[in-house]
Amino acid sequence: MANYTLTINGSQHQVEASEDMPLLWVIRDLLDMKGTKFGCGQGLCGACTVLLGDTALRSCSLRVSEVGEQGITTIEGLSQNGDHPLQKAWTAHIVPQCGYCQAGQIMNAAGLLKRNPSPSEDEIENAMAGNLCRCGTYNRIKEAILTAST
Ligand code: FES
Repeated sequence: MANYTLTINGSQHQVEASEDMPLLWVIRDLLDMKGTKFGCGQGLCGACTVLLGDTALRSCSLRVSEVGEQGITTIEGLSQNGDHPLQKAWTAHIVPQCGYCQAGQIMNAAGLLKRNPSPSEDEIENAMAGNLCRCGTYNRIKEAILTAST
């Protein structure tokens, strides 16, 4: 076990965890932030996506000891009032069905727009291809990202 100081959504959190504990476990189980979802636990589905700095990554596949100094953003911290352009576009396009994967979808889309504010449809499809949705909301996700892009 070791002590870690993590900056999540702009606030510092002290946690005691084993060095190989996935960041996802820290976020959900130690800090009780349930917006980030557990899907496969093996880096295959994207449900657990968060931002580390400006980069979207799968928190089930990053050990807490690897996080370092960079800030983490979860879906709870993407905006103050759910008014991030992606969240507004998600609402406007009525994207979610069951909703389980959608936090990860939005966070992966947020990472895409940080590195490419005006992605083409092909770029969106490539960037989002690894985020699985059992309800098949892919077309609405793409439309929402196009709406939120500049
Ligand atoms: Fe992390 Fe599936 S839970 S990729």
